[in-house]
Amino acid sequence: MHKILISDKFDPEGVARLKEAAGMEVIYKGGHNREELLESISQAHGLIIRSSSRVDAELLSRATHLKAVLRAGVGVDNIDIPECSRRGIIVMNAPGGNSVSTAEHAISLLMALARNIPQAHSSMKAGKWEKSKFSGIELTGKTLGVVGLGRIGKEVVKRARALKMNVIGFDPFIPAANLSSLEIDIVEKEQLLRESDFITVHTPLTDATKDFINKNNFSLLKKGVRLVNCARGGIYNENDLLPGLESGVIGGVALDVFSTEPVPADFPLRDHQAVIMTPHLGASTTDAEFAVAMETVDETIEFFQRGIARNSLNFPTLDPESLDFLKPFYDGGTRIGKLMSLALRGEVKEIQIIYYGEVAEYMTDPVSAAIIQGALEISCGDEVNFVNAPFLARERSIQITEEKDAESVDFSRAVRVRMTSSQGQLIQLTFTSIQKEPRVISLFGLPLEFKPEGILLLVENQDVPGVVGSIGSYLGRVQVNIASIELARESAGKKAHCVIAIDELLTADQLADFGKIDHILRVEQIDLR
Ligand code: NAD
Ligand code: MLT
Repeated sequence: MHKILISDKFDPEGVARLKEAAGMEVIYKGGHNREELLESISQAHGLIIRSSSRVDAELLSRATHLKAVLRAGVGVDNIDIPECSRRGIIVMNAPGGNSVSTAEHAISLLMALARNIPQAHSSMKAGKWEKSKFSGIELTGKTLGVVGLGRIGKEVVKRARALKMNVIGFDPFIPAANLSSLEIDIVEKEQLLRESDFITVHTPLTDATKDFINKNNFSLLKKGVRLVNCARGGIYNENDLLPGLESGVIGGVALDVFSTEPVPADFPLRDHQAVIMTPHLGASTTDAEFAVAMETVDETIEFFQRGIARNSLNFPTLDPESLDFLKPFYDGGTRIGKLMSLALRGEVKEIQIIYYGEVAEYMTDPVSAAIIQGALEISCGDEVNFVNAPFLARERSIQITEEKDAESVDFSRAVRVRMTSSQGQLIQLTFTSIQKEPRVISLFGLPLEFKPEGILLLVENQDVPGVVGSIGSYLGRVQVNIASIELARESAGKKAHCVIAIDELLTADQLADFGKIDHILRVEQIDLR
């Protein structure tokens, strides 16, 4: 049973669907406070959160069984992702479901700013009739600067254009050619600040977006500009907004998000007439909550039932075509890593991975992670998984190098791994995929072909007549069946190698006796089950 703890308020249909899914036990009580979450986390295999729960080092230190954190929503600023990665915990978000709701909220705030609707409403509620005080401006023909042209930014652009606004956009991370369907001018930051009557931001909070508007760039702004923030608090410097409003540089501000949430009682912007605030409502619609909950539930089921991490933020997400192609390399990678590190019999110091032919054209990080995971399994046990394997390798000063040779004349699709021990021993293996299964095609630089699975004996022997016969007789005597045997030699009469797949594990004594067979130089039993 996978125990899934949902620690923030969650759509009831989502909770019900998760409860119905095979192998899931759901812990949900409509929201855990911090103490309750700290207390319950040790039993959880999966944690679903929204924006209220904080996943930090303290919580993670108690999360002894946690495999995945799922953020029902976009922003992951409440999750310590590096710490999750270090602990091998995958982090996923559900980014698509609330884009439209958030874009609509931004447009609502834009309109509210233009027509002073909240202020007029409060005045009416207070029994007044202040018609001239709340005169506004039209949106038609005004310039809207949209910062960040991702999912939400794009939705905002479409709606603002329908309102006949002149929309300009800034997003240094998307090539302008990819934004041509928006039919807006893509401009630099300074131009956007100079020309916009309204600015709305739709980026994450990063070093580059923090204080995107602050007192140092007020001089660039069009006088009376109105600002909307439905993204993250701090993109507009909150301390600078008040002097900006008081000097008239800024004509109005609408904030849905804040540097500190909930907002402190003495928040300086609270009392300013030209400031509109909503309590982080961008995604708070029944439609978005439902869509995000379903997306999160699907991701949870997919991860715990099939091991697929969609929308992962600390592990590369593969599209279905890449997943299908890379699966044998990815599945085989863990076993190859394990096989090689066992055969090396020493502490792994260096892993070199070379991707040849078609494989080199794909995003191969998951394959590398799988190989590293396998190599570390002996020293790290269950502690290592594909998320933290590269981190653990780095912590252990294991040098990892990757190369790609898409034009290879030797291989149409293959992965070669070279592993070196701290004693300087080297082992080399090449594998490919045949009928969607991993298949080793060379080991120790010799053409040894076998499936990396089950129980294998890696044997090194002198190349003299009768060795294979002696091996067969010995295994027959101890009643161990041979599934397959592959032979290759370095040169006639010198050293030879064979890989024998057997049906049952040899005991330690049997293995020692095997090693004493005439002309056997070395034997290694590898359990890949
Ligand atoms: P997204 O990843 O689809 O888009 C973000 C865009 O910002 C990307 O295109 C990226 O290139 C751009 N960007 C990043 N750094 C930039 C920079 N320095 N300058 C200009 N552009 C930059 O994300 P999204 O789903 O559109 O969400 C955007 C933001 O909205 C996120 O911070 C998210 O947390 C927030 N959000 C808030 C609410 C709410 O309730 N108010 C709801 C959903 C999302
Ligand atoms: C998000 O990042 O998805 C939003 O801020 C919505 C939320 O946290 O509820």
